[in-house]
Amino acid sequence: MRRFVSESGGSPGRSGHRLSVDAERVVHDTRVKLAKLFHAPDPDRIIHCLNATDALNMAMKGVLREGDHVVTTDLEHNSVQRPLQALADADFISLTRAPFDADGFVDPDAIRKAIRPETCMIAVLHASNVVGTIQPIAQIGAIARDHDCLFLVDAAQSAGMVEIDVEAMGIDLLAFPGHKELLGPTGTGGLFIGERATLSPWREGGTGADSLHPVQPTEWPARMEAGTPNTVGLAGLSAGLDGLDPAAMRRMKRTLQEMASEGMAVMVSSHMLHLVEEICHRILILQKGRTILEGSLAEIRARLPELDASADLEEIFMHATGGDDLS
Ligand SMILES: Cc1ncc(COP(=O)(O)O)c(C=O)c1O
Repeated sequence: MRRFVSESGGSPGRSGHRLSVDAERVVHDTRVKLAKLFHAPDPDRIIHCLNATDALNMAMKGVLREGDHVVTTDLEHNSVQRPLQALADADFISLTRAPFDADGFVDPDAIRKAIRPETCMIAVLHASNVVGTIQPIAQIGAIARDHDCLFLVDAAQSAGMVEIDVEAMGIDLLAFPGHKELLGPTGTGGLFIGERATLSPWREGGTGADSLHPVQPTEWPARMEAGTPNTVGLAGLSAGLDGLDPAAMRRMKRTLQEMASEGMAVMVSSHMLHLVEEICHRILILQKGRTILEGSLAEIRARLPELDASADLEEIFMHATGGDDLS
């Protein structure tokens, strides 16, 4: 980011001079890297956004029409739950929420059963920010295809951490932040839009191309990206993506394993629960340095939703210990 600001720092698509062309290259290269990461066939269908919330709103508000029905789950983050609830409260859409079981998983069959003739979207989070479970996305994606519904996946906690293949998993809309596991700065994120999805832009304006035309261009990605992009942030996201090693997760898991087998404690945040799952026997949940929950992973998972309602999760860390002596 520092290099981009000091050596270039131009605005893309606004001119033909070097600084502008350099900025355009950063914006495009980041798109290409994201498309590669998510196995998206066309980089131009990766839309740069502000964060996962922005991308999710773009997807929901761009797709949903009056009278539509949406199937979602009880596990969703507020960034899915609140926009959908607002649309339902306005009698614009109807909504069904599939429950999750005692282990924090949503049963794909419950999703299938909730589908109605007017269902146009299934919206599910990939990795839970509260209980750490990874949902069976490919199975739900196949159900969405069978019933001709669009499949929106909230990958806020999984992008860069868990393998995502939009084609193999039947994902039509993938919303992700740049500032978590993709190692980018805040103010970056994106939405992958598959070919089955038709979205109207929820902001229109200058795109730096076709400026004499009075309406929003229809070409991707310009149709969804009005206004000057966050080029400095995208330069950071691009660098973050370069540092994203597919083997990094395996290395992290190995390190945690070694620490746990030596009886050392490992601190992880809730979205990394799946990494410690096979490694640790006992987990302590600390809030402001005080132990507020202790038990096996299954016990902790069962009680996390109740904890979510009563405590500030931002202040919570998992203190996971393992090794035979602790079993
Ligand atoms: C599951 C989930 N979805 C969405 C979001 C929102 O992400 P952002 O802050 O990038 O808008 C978060 C944030 O932590 C999250 O955990």
